Amino acid sequence: MSTAPSVENITLGDLYADPYPAYRRLRMEAPVAWVPAARIHLVTRFDDIIAIERDAGTFPALDLRSLQIKAMGHTLMRKDGEDHKRERALLEPTFRPGTVKNHWEPIFARIADELIDGFAERGEADIFAEFAAPLASRCLMEILGLTNVDWRDLIGWSQSLMDAVGNYGDDPDVWAKGLAASQAIDAALDERIPQLKANPDPSVVSAMANAAEPLTIDQIRANVKVIVGGGLNEPRDATCTALYGLLRNPAQLTQVLADDGRWKDVFEEAVRWVAPIGMYPRRVARTVELGGAILEPDDQIGLVVASACHDETRFEDGHLFDINRKRAPHLAFGSGPHFCLGTWAARKQVGDIAVPNILRRLPNLRLDPDREARLGGWVFRGLLNLPVKWDA
Ligand code: HEM
Repeated sequence: MSTAPSVENITLGDLYADPYPAYRRLRMEAPVAWVPAARIHLVTRFDDIIAIERDAGTFPALDLRSLQIKAMGHTLMRKDGEDHKRERALLEPTFRPGTVKNHWEPIFARIADELIDGFAERGEADIFAEFAAPLASRCLMEILGLTNVDWRDLIGWSQSLMDAVGNYGDDPDVWAKGLAASQAIDAALDERIPQLKANPDPSVVSAMANAAEPLTIDQIRANVKVIVGGGLNEPRDATCTALYGLLRNPAQLTQVLADDGRWKDVFEEAVRWVAPIGMYPRRVARTVELGGAILEPDDQIGLVVASACHDETRFEDGHLFDINRKRAPHLAFGSGPHFCLGTWAARKQVGDIAVPNILRRLPNLRLDPDREARLGGWVFRGLLNLPVKWDA
């Protein structure tokens, strides 16, 4: 048993509604805390998370109890050392800034334009459902190479897999849906792998299937599933959060519309302000002191990057959306060996294309005064809807 203080008065309901007040309290009073409601130790300070990510020997990603392994197979996200490096290296060319710019950018821009064409004349829409989610899904189909599926199905599979990864209550229906999603993805892969072997392209599946030392089919399937689970909701949520931040702060909106050089700041500030992945787990491999607590082997810790992104030692008034804040590294993409592979693809899709294009094409875009935008979640957090109006 660790010596971390047990913090009983944080409920899952509090965390879902708005986790930031609880994170602030934890940073001040118990930066490494056992939170019974979440059944995990939460690590909430920026510097402690950096220290963990620099020491994979003490805090490995591999945990055989992981529900991610049960739901998706053994993905690169739950591997360490050489095993992890080899699989990550195979995927890197797909996600390089050069590939993103030369290959993915025109594809992402075409999809964004087609979606905006679909509602530009209407004067109102839910940006979450009609733009951010289909854009993220259709871009992900291309990145993966799963162009043989329907984007609506991909959204459903992604959700079912993520629900299974978070199925701590062991609900059999959740496992059944996760398994069905998994089987549907395997079937789509069985169709696409021979095609991509015959005609290689820069996609994820092509990279893995055509490697000089190819991965096994189980490794390919697991890695595709982790990207289906982790590469869809995050760009969707970053798009909505960036727009929501700007629409609630008209002076900043005016500023970016007058200066194309500022879109990058909008993107980085949005993911810092409301990190799409709020928390991810690591395992403790040996007895270690962290944040005033002694942790023991096999303790499970949650790295609360959403909290680190509001840590007052790094960010002044972190709860405010402010594109003019002093630039400083944030942890929304993680850090260390598992630093998000999709960072450049997300920056391109969201920061360079989705957010500027929608604001340029929908004049006088504003939040719908009659329909409230709502936020939810803590392990994953974002807008649940984003109703807007514009002058059509
Ligand atoms: C704003 C959007 C995104 C955010 C905030 C985000 C965040 C993260 C974070 C925090 C991690 C580290 C997780 C851990 O260490 O356990 C991660 C890893 C990863 N992300 Fe992203 N992500 C985003 C978009 C994407 C996209 C679009 C893709 C792919 C299409 C992607 C693919 C991956 C992969 C493959 C990993 C695992 C890397 C490894 O284990 O070496 N991400 N992401």
